[in-house]
Amino acid sequence: MLAQNLGPTRKPSALDNPSLESPPAALLAAALAARARAYARYSQFAVGAALMDEQGRIHAGCNVENAAYPEGLCAEAVALGQLVLAGGTRVTAVLVAADAATPITPCGGCRQKLREFAAGGAVPVWSANTQRVLARHTLAELLPASFGPDHLGPR
Ligand code: THU
Repeated sequence: MLAQNLGPTRKPSALDNPSLESPPAALLAAALAARARAYARYSQFAVGAALMDEQGRIHAGCNVENAAYPEGLCAEAVALGQLVLAGGTRVTAVLVAADAATPITPCGGCRQKLREFAAGGAVPVWSANTQRVLARHTLAELLPASFGPDHLGPR
């Protein structure tokens, strides 16, 4: 049967799933607490990230910079290490917190790192500052047509 015409097409929005409109309070709190630990000596741009795993557990990280600038770690990468170390295998939600007026989303490299463990393209990625939640994207919006473990076949 042909799909019913439901009117003008529009981009999917967070409003499509009201339960995902706001992040879990614990996810926001963990990202903000992690941000307070950031070692952002060179950029002065402190970032905290919090990830929820498949068991509902929360893992957090902060950015850890380095005098050899490219060796710095993003908050998301540190949080992913925490998740894996704790035995987590899937990321089901992400929240990134920074003191910025515009929403901070994961850098390109971190989008790919998150994609490795993402429970699907619909995984929400919230952006917050110290005052409020500013944006919500899905991982697929941030990293469309992505490359992932399945492309390598069984390993
Ligand atoms: N940074 C993160 O940790 N996560 C992001 O999502 C954006 C950028 C860090 C990297 C660097 O330490 C500082 O923010 C400035 O780029």
